[in-house]
Amino acid sequence: MHLKDKVALVTGAAQGIGNACAQALLEKGCKVGLVDQNAEAGKESKDNFDKQFDTQRTIFIPCDVSDEGQLKDAFKKVFEHFGRLDIVVNNAGINNENNWEITVQVNLISVIRGTYIGLEYMKTENGGNGGAIVNVSSIAGLVPAPYQPVYCASKHGVIGFTRSIAGASKEKNYGVRINTICPGYVNTPILQTIEKEENMGQYLEFKENLQALMKFYGLLPPPLIAEGLIKILEDDTLNGEVMKITKGQGIHFHEYSPLPTPSDKQ
Ligand SMILES: NC(=O)c1ccc[n+]([C@@H]2O[C@H](COP(=O)([O-])OP(=O)(O)OC[C@H]3O[C@@H](n4cnc5c(N)ncnc54)[C@H](O)[C@@H]3O)[C@@H](O)[C@H]2O)c1
Repeated sequence: MHLKDKVALVTGAAQGIGNACAQALLEKGCKVGLVDQNAEAGKESKDNFDKQFDTQRTIFIPCDVSDEGQLKDAFKKVFEHFGRLDIVVNNAGINNENNWEITVQVNLISVIRGTYIGLEYMKTENGGNGGAIVNVSSIAGLVPAPYQPVYCASKHGVIGFTRSIAGASKEKNYGVRINTICPGYVNTPILQTIEKEENMGQYLEFKENLQALMKFYGLLPPPLIAEGLIKILEDDTLNGEVMKITKGQGIHFHEYSPLPTPSDKQ
């Protein structure tokens, strides 16, 4: 996909990985709907982008992605404001093992909902232009995370859903490619939550273990995740892929064995 003049909606765009993704999309010539529940940080990030890019190229929409009405409204606003929608980055996510139901709600249910709403706007059978959806999972979506079991489950869910809906999109000729990005530890404010009882609950006692893991694996810079996003968007061959980004191996793809199908010889 040529990114110039395309319209993207990025959730969790006020800071961290989402903000870096918005920056990279703007640098490529996209217009970006910045969606985030943190209104103060969201406005600050819009102001920051206005210093670098034409003010018309971004819109900030305060929205809690876990609220169905607010999420639908955010998509509607972006579509009506820019007149089209080509790219959705379902990035907003939290780490909360204490109030774990909300982790499933934000990290998995809202990503599923964001994908379905995005498809409604973009799929060709609805008169859309086609496009691309990228759902942000984590390396914790591929391996166990003993001190963050629900976060881990939510991120495994994102991968399973995204690979599956990518297959459905292909079979139904939606014209929308759907992929997942799985970063290792990234240097963003979410990492501070491992020190808080309100986030870690019964797993707070493992804080030092998590800190040791981060030290061992190293922290990735947010722009590297944005680089991975741009690679996925620009390569029209990618659908249902799981991109891993780690300190050791950089940007690379998870390899799965091909699934046997009924047409395979026994
Ligand atoms: N930082 C890491 O180490 C890391 C590693 C792998 C995956 N991830 C994933 O990357 C994504 C972005 O994380 P980050 O590191 O940038 O975190 P972050 O906390 O720095 O940023 C997350 C953003 O999402 C927003 N957000 C949270 N809940 C929301 C909601 N209900 N509605 C709307 N906005 C909401 C926050 O306000 C914030 O601006 C998350 O899905 C996270 O799980 C992060």
